[in-house]
Amino acid sequence: MKTDASGLVHHKKPLISPLRYPGGKSSLYPRLRSIVRENGLTSGTYVEPYAGGAGAAMGLLVTGQVDSVVINDFDPAIYAFWKLVVQAPDELSRMIGSAELSVSEWIRQKEIYLTAERDNYIDLGFAVFYLNRTNRSGVLNGGPIGGMNQSGNYKIDARFNKEALIERIRLIALHASRVTVLNMDGIDVIDRYSKDREVLIYADPPYFEKAGSLYLNSFADAHHSALASCLNSVKKARWLLTYDNVPRVAELYSKRRREVFSLNYSAHRVVKATEVMVYSDSLLVSDSKAS
Ligand SMILES: C[S@@+](CC[C@H](N)C(=O)[O-])C[C@H]1O[C@@H](n2cnc3c(N)ncnc32)[C@H](O)[C@@H]1O
Repeated sequence: MKTDASGLVHHKKPLISPLRYPGGKSSLYPRLRSIVRENGLTSGTYVEPYAGGAGAAMGLLVTGQVDSVVINDFDPAIYAFWKLVVQAPDELSRMIGSAELSVSEWIRQKEIYLTAERDNYIDLGFAVFYLNRTNRSGVLNGGPIGGMNQSGNYKIDARFNKEALIERIRLIALHASRVTVLNMDGIDVIDRYSKDREVLIYADPPYFEKAGSLYLNSFADAHHSALASCLNSVKKARWLLTYDNVPRVAELYSKRRREVFSLNYSAHRVVKATEVMVYSDSLLVSDSKAS
């Protein structure tokens, strides 16, 4: 795959989200785009109840594949970040432009992240963004890239290309009027949008086995079951769901079509399918091998 000079346009997926997200789903963009078209939803709304880095949502938005997108995350800091992007993009770009990339600033941003009022979306949103771009693997409880004494091969600024990040913010801001940002429980978001025929819901909840270490608020089994009851009860809605490929998914969604896939798909290597996609009954997915 190739990128253009701005680093934004990939052969297969536009890289628009300013957040690094472990297990991020921007590579599902081509698949989601076909599903949107096949189901006649190009004038509809695309909803991510567990948005995180919202890689796929941002790709669909800026390339005009859907009319509007809804991004929801229960994590107040992630919500604050998206609200900042949509409501105060110029302020965010200014903050990125003048950000100091050093361990002392990293410590200061970590403090803001831990102590800022949850509704102070400007400071909290910027702090989570700063940590996301300067932490190892983008994981919020990881230390800074290069370590506290900056002795590693890569330094704290390795993933903080100011120009490229400001460009991503600018692109999203052009489409801000078509974005709704929410801070609800994902299940309530599914309830709210599942009655609307002009909606595609893509749920990517925290995984069964990987979740604990990756995200701030991981899911307990009760959450996974509650999500399954919710999705299984809205069979007429058009939704899809991705999970890690564990037996519990087949149990919870035994009556739905399921298909294993790998995010690390390579044309040259055989890669073990580590993820599973589940489809609602009314979703048309003609190129699927789902059973
Ligand atoms: C697997 S990640 C989503 C990754 C995303 N698809 C991407 O491409 O970046 C799951 C997200 O769900 C959020 N989350 C956890 N519990 C939630 C809940 N009950 N309701 C909504 N979001 C929740 C986490 O904060 C995390 O950002």
